[in-house]
Amino acid sequence: MKILVVGGGGREHALCWKIAASPLCERLFCTPGNAGIAQEADCVPIGAEDVEGQVAFAKGNAVDFVVVGPEAPLVAGLVDRLSDEGIKAFGPSAAAAMLEGSKGFVKDLCAKHGVPTAEYGRFVDAGSARSFIRETGVPVVIKADGLAAGKGVTVATSQAEAEAAIDAIMVEKKFGAAGDSLVIEEFLDGEEASFFALVDGETVLPLASAQDHKRVGDGETGPNTGGMGAYSPAPVMSPEMERRVMDEIVTPTVAAMKAEGQPYKGVLYAGLMITEEGPKLIEFNVRFGDPECQVLMPRLKSDLLPALMASADGVLANLDLRWHDEAAMTVVMAANGYPGSYEKGSEIRGLEAAAALDGVVVFHAGTKAGAGGTVLADGGRVLDVTATAPTVAEARARAYAAVDLIDWPEGFCRRDIGWRALEPEG
Ligand code: AMP
Ligand code: GLY
Repeated sequence: MKILVVGGGGREHALCWKIAASPLCERLFCTPGNAGIAQEADCVPIGAEDVEGQVAFAKGNAVDFVVVGPEAPLVAGLVDRLSDEGIKAFGPSAAAAMLEGSKGFVKDLCAKHGVPTAEYGRFVDAGSARSFIRETGVPVVIKADGLAAGKGVTVATSQAEAEAAIDAIMVEKKFGAAGDSLVIEEFLDGEEASFFALVDGETVLPLASAQDHKRVGDGETGPNTGGMGAYSPAPVMSPEMERRVMDEIVTPTVAAMKAEGQPYKGVLYAGLMITEEGPKLIEFNVRFGDPECQVLMPRLKSDLLPALMASADGVLANLDLRWHDEAAMTVVMAANGYPGSYEKGSEIRGLEAAAALDGVVVFHAGTKAGAGGTVLADGGRVLDVTATAPTVAEARARAYAAVDLIDWPEGFCRRDIGWRALEPEG
């Protein structure tokens, strides 16, 4: 089969790495891909968000199955457009992608169907949002309704901060149309974890849990990022907690989407707060996490491709996945300055030595090929140095040993990825 993976980050490298290993995959394309992905797939420079460009490429190259990595093309209707052209794809329709595309839609769905989540209000004007928080007080969480590249959320601990967040979204329009409406939520206290499941419209096949680190600095300091590292499984997600998340959150949501006439297909990523009252939904994403995907793929023993196809075909009930009994950790190496401004084009050395370590694979998040076989940084998050081992502690030791072999003075990483898993009391 000819497979196309849409996207060009570390998540897509992990997906390509796993799909290329499938006996079903005869030819693998990635649009646009990156220098690491080029070791697994033919990379074609078409932007992930160029829906018509993707459709034309898939059609012109007789692609049998498309796997969409990022949320933006899903929300923009790439899977619907491919389906119009008779091309099968993994991921939700635009209507079902509202589970990530509109925070207000999700909150209303949860309220209607009894899915546990933070109390909330929805607002379309700044004045009523301001008066709401004057009544509720702080801490409170302010969210732009639409896609804001992970930057539209403020956990406000003072009235002034809350009002500034409302103004940034609704008055200054910092997130454009994504901020035409906003959600204000109760602050949830607890430990965060992510849970992933494949869905085929009706059947839910649980995958695994993970935890990521969103702040840029050690000790959870500094601004939020796309994620500076992750590990799987998440210790807080005991088998009992996983059952509760499936029974109380994931399965009811999938049933609700079907009942609403928008059946959900693809991977459902539940961002959770494990509170004293039990698991509560923070948000859904309609794609694999980045960098969480980079720790799920190395743990998966079974072939991924038939599972993705079963999700698209509505036959997940016949499928069973097997997992390695190992933990995985990924450490993100980012360009100095990230998540603020940073430079591109510096050379990265030592990648082969790092990848030669036992249990290590280095996924590329933002690289491009330079002259003479060199690899150059080409993004904010640049590498995902990933390791598997019997325990999180050993996976961490391996991942950092690999990081230390990478010679890239223009980049940095956090040195404390996985602390929650290693200091469960902390
Ligand atoms: P989101 O983009 O919705 O995942 O929000 C980004 C981050 O904000 C989450 O990972 C949480 O750390 C935090 N957050 C979002 N909603 C809440 C909430 N209701 N209570 C506490 N923290 C939250
Ligand atoms: N790592 C967070 C995300 O993929 O949304």
